[in-house]
Amino acid sequence: MRPLRILLLAHSFNSLTQRLFVELRALGHTVSLELDIADPVTEEAVTLFEPDLLIAPFLKRRIPESVWSRRVCLVVHPGIAGDRGPSALDWAVLRGEAQWGVTVLQANGEFDAGEVWATASFTMRAATKASLYRREVTRCAVAAVIEALSRFVPGQPSPAARPALPAHPGRWQPLMQQSDRAVDVATDDSATVLRKIRAADGFPGVADALFGLPCHLFDAHAASAAALSAAPPGPPGSVVARRGPALLRRTVGGGVWIGHVRRAGPDARTPALKLAATLAFEAEAAALPELEVPLMRDAHDEWDELHYREFGAGGARVGWLEFDFHNGAMSTRQCLRLRHALRFARGRDTRVLVLVGGADFFCNGIHLHDIEAAAHRPGDSAADASWRNINAIDDVALDLLTLTDRITVAALRGNAGAGGCFLALAADQVWAHDGVVLNPHYKNMGNLYGSEYWTYLLPRRVGEAGAMAITQGRLPLSARQANALGLIDELLAADTTAFELQVEAHAAALAAAPDIAARLATKQQRRQADEAMKPLAAYREEELQRMQRNFFGFDPSYHVARHHFVYRKPQAWTPRHLALHRDRAER
Ligand code: COA
Repeated sequence: MRPLRILLLAHSFNSLTQRLFVELRALGHTVSLELDIADPVTEEAVTLFEPDLLIAPFLKRRIPESVWSRRVCLVVHPGIAGDRGPSALDWAVLRGEAQWGVTVLQANGEFDAGEVWATASFTMRAATKASLYRREVTRCAVAAVIEALSRFVPGQPSPAARPALPAHPGRWQPLMQQSDRAVDVATDDSATVLRKIRAADGFPGVADALFGLPCHLFDAHAASAAALSAAPPGPPGSVVARRGPALLRRTVGGGVWIGHVRRAGPDARTPALKLAATLAFEAEAAALPELEVPLMRDAHDEWDELHYREFGAGGARVGWLEFDFHNGAMSTRQCLRLRHALRFARGRDTRVLVLVGGADFFCNGIHLHDIEAAAHRPGDSAADASWRNINAIDDVALDLLTLTDRITVAALRGNAGAGGCFLALAADQVWAHDGVVLNPHYKNMGNLYGSEYWTYLLPRRVGEAGAMAITQGRLPLSARQANALGLIDELLAADTTAFELQVEAHAAALAAAPDIAARLATKQQRRQADEAMKPLAAYREEELQRMQRNFFGFDPSYHVARHHFVYRKPQAWTPRHLALHRDRAER
């Protein structure tokens, strides 16, 4: 296919838009982005860029007629062919559909009703709407967009060939209301409660009340029979125990862990932040028993953010440490928990330690919501909380960097951003699958300088010039690009289950490799040589000096950017490094 000029029009540069951006560029197309701010702005972008076609991966408003009537505009809809409406995935999860899909259709005067250019389907998984969106929907959307492009003939308003459509198409489904999502504590069993919360996660959550106080519920996990019998009794709806970030709430015949909530502020002027449930209800949670669970456990039905297991023959054992922190954000508390887990792992007789981050995000760095919450806490401040959090995550990176008696591997099941990328690079090896997108830069968060030893970790993989290009470029990188640049060492199977099996097999082979002792000796020598050249403490001090200015200095950019980010404030303009059409040199 000849290279096309493609304008991506999106409400925000979200994960799906980023993935299409990197995939379409890799196919040789010239791709520019315009955020959907106002119709005249979109019209201006089209005039400036003169695209062959527009693709809208994530929109909350209609494309103006002045645009769709003159150019082919393809909309990515997270639903099967014929399905229409703004809550497609919410309904699919709530109704427990077995199969679902993605449709690429042409924009016209009616919502989601234009001609279908391509479809792709997937088997539903018991997961949150956001998780399905980030994995299955994104994978299918990339395939369907590429298929739709193969049907595009410049100047022709319809597809060159029609896709085969399913025999049982979807239908119009209205915006889902909180009344559709409401949990009925008197009748809903755990499976129903989980389905309702998952259908609303990450946005808007299920409006409910805990301890009689209104809040929205997110991040729900099934409670095991063991946890339920260890917890104090209580009627359905009561909150009876806590674990890590979560509160255990009884349901009819069972219970669910509620990991995160958005609690209404004390007054209308204080907007609600999504926080760990035990933090949002700190005083109430403190009165509940903590149901601790061993880090190393066989029981897979026993939920916690952290889990450690081992496998492999004696003398060649592999440690497998999972830290699945909601949205990949790592608060000071979570950094401390991870350090304890690393300390435990360090005491085990293993040759390889695999660090398996979250199922959807490996890690996205310091916890910006927690930091924002500190601004509202008497005696605390966002700057102080940022300082505590960056030091805590640096400590995690340091523990990894100084773990020289075994090989460490970061296994990326999901995307990584900002400090989360550099945390992965603190491991000896980085393994990912080719659906992963990395954002190894901080600058988008109000010119944040960043820490996590990135000034040591990035140049050692890509050189000084490469590090400068990546951090100043502020672009997402596909796993393939990151692999070519040397940021990812191995690209494994894209399918989640196959990926994990491959990581296990590769880690076991690494632990049993005849040259493992030599590898470890090389690792130790390199660390010593690097330390002699410039101590890790010096990198950290230099980075933190810059971060101190970001947090406590005169320029409030980081605080403003964080505030906008956590409260999901709409963008006022498209960043120039993404909007090629607004850069004269690129046009
Ligand atoms: N702290 C707290 N929450 C975070 C977070 C962080 N560092 N990074 C992401 N999140 C949350 C978002 O608020 C969002 O929450 P939601 O469930 O209410 O929607 C969710 O994770 C998904 O984030 P989103 O931005 O929608 O994901 P994306 O895939 O479109 O973009 C990133 C991924 C990494 C580019 C983007 O999330 C980002 O820029 N994060 C901040 C990274 C950062 O600057 N960290 C601090 C410096 S170390």
